[in-house]
Amino acid sequence: MAKKIMIDCDVGVDDALALILAFHSPELKVEAVTGVNGNVPIEMVFTNIQKVLSLIKPKKKPLIAKGADRPLMGQPLYAHSVHGKSGLGEATIEMEEGQEWWKSFAGSADQLITRFAYQFPGELTLIAIGPLTNLALAILRDPKGFKKLKEIVIMGGAVRANGNVTPFAEFNIFSDPLAAKMVLKSGLPMTLVPLDVTHQVCLTPSLIEERIMPMNNPFSEFTIDAIGYDVQSRRFRRETDFIYLHDPLAVGVVIKQDLVKKERLSLDIETEEGDHFGQILKTEGTPNIEVCLEVDSKGFLDLFLTKLG
Ligand code: BDR
Ligand code: CA
Repeated sequence: MAKKIMIDCDVGVDDALALILAFHSPELKVEAVTGVNGNVPIEMVFTNIQKVLSLIKPKKKPLIAKGADRPLMGQPLYAHSVHGKSGLGEATIEMEEGQEWWKSFAGSADQLITRFAYQFPGELTLIAIGPLTNLALAILRDPKGFKKLKEIVIMGGAVRANGNVTPFAEFNIFSDPLAAKMVLKSGLPMTLVPLDVTHQVCLTPSLIEERIMPMNNPFSEFTIDAIGYDVQSRRFRRETDFIYLHDPLAVGVVIKQDLVKKERLSLDIETEEGDHFGQILKTEGTPNIEVCLEVDSKGFLDLFLTKLG
């Protein structure tokens, strides 16, 4: 039976690819997509969710809801340098007037998380691929309700690997460390998909030229535009040689558990200002999370490319 999921995201190029992967996977039933401030401001995130759904045209329209416009504490940090001005790189998606591929929830993202936790007790997997602010707000709103989720799968953090915002911290956790700390303490079954594994899954020029370009479908075209691949130079927007598939891997792990090897660890988050702000800390005590530390990169890329095609 398909797993019921909801996705909390900050679309974002790799968030968009994660949504495509999720909606193209009959193993999953995507009930809702919520947006959070992150890679780009929340209004853009919300528009991007609608745009990506207009590209996907899901058979069953998910509920969508807008979430936090800032972290619990401090100022928002955006990643336009990675995700472009709009958050979708150089891709443009025209939305047909009057045609909506979603159902709008009359409330905030954290209200929708709580509502669904009660509606599907013990059944719903929440995949969080942005800063964890909406999850923390749901915990603050109704901690008992939040515990009715089945599990959370989080793309974030750097456990043994280096960070990508600072030498120690990864973007999603660094953007709202206090929220991440609250989520870690929630007591729910949790899986972390950190940079340790997402840095092992990337799109390279040969994968794009040999596997994606020949697909010649709206999704392959979107991918190439979003990541800004230039055939002449064989490089990407931002002058890089490859693109990481951080968020799609978090969805991949839910589709196919054996893509990764996990370790149960006891983790906390550094919330004190300073060099280590937003760092994942290993602590003594009862393990509170399963951490993906090894990945079958080829297995995941095959899965991703198959669903894209
Ligand atoms: C994470 O940060 C964001 O820029 C990506 O969308 C991903 O969720 C990787 O550190
Ligand atoms: Ca993201």
